[in-house]
Amino acid sequence: MSILNKDQSDYWNGEVGQRWAVYHEALDTAFAPFTEALFARAALGAGARVLDIGCGAGETALIAARQVGSGGHVTAADLSEPLLAVGRERAAREAPGTAPIAWLRADAQDHAFGSGFDHALSRFGVMFFEDSTAAFANIRRSLAASGRLSFLCWRSMAENAWVTVPRDAVLPLLPEVEPPQPCAPGPFRFAAPDALLPILEAAGFRGIECEPVDRVMRVGETIEAAADFVATRGPVARLLREREPALQEAALKIIRQLFAERFGAGPVDLGAACWLVSARA
Ligand SMILES: C[S@@+](CC[C@H](N)C(=O)[O-])C[C@H]1O[C@@H](n2cnc3c(N)ncnc32)[C@H](O)[C@@H]1O
Repeated sequence: MSILNKDQSDYWNGEVGQRWAVYHEALDTAFAPFTEALFARAALGAGARVLDIGCGAGETALIAARQVGSGGHVTAADLSEPLLAVGRERAAREAPGTAPIAWLRADAQDHAFGSGFDHALSRFGVMFFEDSTAAFANIRRSLAASGRLSFLCWRSMAENAWVTVPRDAVLPLLPEVEPPQPCAPGPFRFAAPDALLPILEAAGFRGIECEPVDRVMRVGETIEAAADFVATRGPVARLLREREPALQEAALKIIRQLFAERFGAGPVDLGAACWLVSARA
């Protein structure tokens, strides 16, 4: 198996992938309003063949499998073995009547998925390619002539209060060592549509639509759960990683205090902003 995106593979198979695997339920709760928007747009038909790109712990692959039913098929692809393992485990508990799911450790940038998929979809799994044009061209090749693409990606960090509120609070203590480059693989890679549209066009997609979706995100039911969420997943977790334990604990304390002042005992709900992108093959 070829893995072109070796750094991302190491990242999502290491500590970060393990964390996402352990906390997948909280992530699925937080992302639920966006997941709903994604599936409303995708409008998967019964019997459809679906490719889930960067499927993570499987939430979207499982929903797709329920929606297309036993006459359909889902291929769920990801670089991360720990996350695929959670997906496989969850699928084994599904009731009969859902589509079979093939869980595949693959680099979506160049894996030959075959052809004839009716829909390629992704929830936050397409912003991490070294060569995004090559990756989207590869995804397009997997689609039938009538096939469609639907995915979610984050808008700018500034529009995502679930990131900026805790991040701004801890930055004085934990300054950014290496600020992320706007065009480097990462969660905000496609924050500007200008960065995305030419790539999708060059990959051969047509009828591209980028709809802004703003939702309130349930970061945690309690202050503790919300602080844990931002400290272990996403851009704030990146600031905390590989710091001394005392610094990490001090940053967590700041986040807990901030959330407690603002949200009492909880829940912690903060604004989140995405693009819902759709296109034809
Ligand atoms: C932000 S997570 C989203 C996971 C999942 N879609 C969700 O919403 O919970 C990004 C996922 O994309 C996967 N990924 C990153 N680059 C990839 C690539 N080149 N090919 C396949 N999967 C990739 C990662 O392993 C990770 O599981």
